[in-house]
Amino acid sequence: MSEWFETADGILARVWGTLGQGVADAKHPARLPTFATVSPDGLPEARTVVLRSADRETMVVTVHTDLYSDKIKSLRATPHAALHIWDAKQDLQIRLQAEVSIGSGAGTRALWNKIPDHAQQSYGVTPPPGAPIKGALEYVKNPDPATFAVLHCTVTTIDAVHLGADHRRVSFSRIGHWQGQWLSP
Ligand SMILES: Cc1cc2nc3c(=O)[nH]c(=O)nc-3n(C[C@H](O)[C@H](O)[C@H](O)COP(=O)(O)O)c2cc1C
Repeated sequence: MSEWFETADGILARVWGTLGQGVADAKHPARLPTFATVSPDGLPEARTVVLRSADRETMVVTVHTDLYSDKIKSLRATPHAALHIWDAKQDLQIRLQAEVSIGSGAGTRALWNKIPDHAQQSYGVTPPPGAPIKGALEYVKNPDPATFAVLHCTVTTIDAVHLGADHRRVSFSRIGHWQGQWLSP
């Protein structure tokens, strides 16, 4: 029987399975991707986020954030992101590129209402995220649905590296109809 990493389709299925595990399991490494954007000045920037959903049918993954955080300014200027995951147990690196649309306001209210109180604390702070403050704790958390944003990331490319006894690297793209292309690692 062949291993999942021996075929491009096997790897693609494993990538989406891994993203799904990240959504479902708070301890899974895919739970906390690095989310990279381009700043309005054209500089690279990256931060940890929580992966909230991943749907292979629509090719959309979602992330929640504060509407007043700097990443929103970046995404308004350049609506693209890269997500990076390293799953050591599977020897699997996943890199995604995505087009990002920002959901907020009435469209996100139903989702906001389902978020537990303690998690709502992550959205809404005075002064806004990234503002200079005099002391480390001179801010107030005030959960506010008006500051809650959902980043809808439509995946356009996937690059997967499997570091087994042999190293395998394969890329997939929307433009290439998700047919795997092996790459030299
Ligand atoms: C474990 C962990 C999980 C985080 N999850 C999120 C998240 O889901 N969404 C988010 O906006 N920021 C999250 N953050 C905070 C970001 O890493 C970042 O500090 C913050 O969003 C401000 O980023 P920005 O200034 O680039 O917008 C998380 C941080 C850590 C350490």
